[in-house]
Amino acid sequence: MADLIVDGAMIDIISDLYQNAYRNSLIIPEAYEAEGFFSRLGTSGRWLFFTAAPLKNSEGKIVGAIETLQDITERKVAESALLKAQLEVEEIVEQRTAQLADMNSTLRRDVERREQLEYELTKRNSELNLLNAKLVTTQEHLVQSEKLASIGQLAAGVAHEINNPIGYIFSNYGMLESYLGSLFEMLNAYEDAEKSCGDSDIVKELQARRVALEVDFLKEDIPDLMKESKEGIVRVRKIVQDLKDFSHVDAKPEWSFANLNQGIDSTLNVVNNEVKYKADIIKEYGELPLVQCLPSEINQVVMNLVVNAAHAIGPDRGKIWIRTGVENESVWIEVTDNGSGIPKEVVPRIFDPFYTTKPVGKGTGLGLSLSYGIIQKHRGQIDVHTVIGKGTTFRLVLPLKQTDKAE
Ligand SMILES: Nc1ncnc2c1ncn2[C@@H]1O[C@H](COP(=O)(O)OP(=O)(O)OP(=O)(O)O)[C@@H](O)[C@H]1O
Ligand SMILES: [Mg+2]
Repeated sequence: MADLIVDGAMIDIISDLYQNAYRNSLIIPEAYEAEGFFSRLGTSGRWLFFTAAPLKNSEGKIVGAIETLQDITERKVAESALLKAQLEVEEIVEQRTAQLADMNSTLRRDVERREQLEYELTKRNSELNLLNAKLVTTQEHLVQSEKLASIGQLAAGVAHEINNPIGYIFSNYGMLESYLGSLFEMLNAYEDAEKSCGDSDIVKELQARRVALEVDFLKEDIPDLMKESKEGIVRVRKIVQDLKDFSHVDAKPEWSFANLNQGIDSTLNVVNNEVKYKADIIKEYGELPLVQCLPSEINQVVMNLVVNAAHAIGPDRGKIWIRTGVENESVWIEVTDNGSGIPKEVVPRIFDPFYTTKPVGKGTGLGLSLSYGIIQKHRGQIDVHTVIGKGTTFRLVLPLKQTDKAE
């Protein structure tokens, strides 16, 4: 290189001679740097790095050149070892990347399979939920018909047993009334006859007997007794009739057009015993058209509400209002009490089957759940409004007609 610089031929041939293994020096102008492997140096050849710089006189003419040589074999060996290691690392990274991509796609397939499974599970779950809901309603219906049937049978049995004796008491009573009339008439005739008998001992004795037996009082009191008894018998007959109406034993539950005010009255007679010692019943009925319904089941609902209302009333005598009315194409029935009210956290549960706050043996917790089912069957609505310590109102709304009563 130094020779070429001195000859001034450097610029023309350096690129041929050294190809890419040279460069212009970054530090000294017109100087060159190059490196190369010299196989005949040392035992197995050496790498050399050399620079050549021109020497110039004061006029700037090249008068010589300085060339330095540096053995860079060790650096080169280290560099090639590094390169090899780097290549190895790259190969390993490539391998790993391929493995990872493999694993990734397996994982993705796995996730897809899982998603599919999950979807199927969710589907199955919602099918099961649906089935469960159906089961619950079926069960409710079963329990309801069982409860209705047993109450109906009991009521029917009692009504039947009482009906016959009341029948002959009632008819005998009519006879008794007319016989008593005849006896009184005869007695009056005797009394009149006495007066015309003069003052004999027999007449005196008769008068003494009459005073002793208080016959004048009997004549006044017997008609009163008879009147009261008649009222009693008429009431018993009415109760028996109501029991029969309530239980509707003769017929299977059938959709018919019923007068709900009348139904409520007969239901009230049936539950009278449960209510009369606890509350006064205040009826505020509106004029109702006939409503298409299962009358015995609506009676059952009203009975549940009235009995619940009576149970909600504390030790002091309370009040239960029963109101009815028409609104649009529906009728409504409200049962309001001034009892305990229902705590906020209890309200969402009162329609649940078997939910009761009453002591064991007192309530089964089925009343409202059955009522809810019955009102749903009628495509109606049952709502509750309650204030703690003030009382509770249950409101039923029933459509006048069922669009598809065959169901
Ligand atoms: N008018 C009301 N006032 C206060 N609480 C009420 C009233 N009606 C219902 N409840 C509450 O709702 C619960 C559930 O009533 P539901 O009629 O379903 O069952 P129950 O009366 O306890 O038992 P069952 O009616 O089967 O004999 C009652 O235990 C009571 O706590
Ligand atoms: Mg109840």
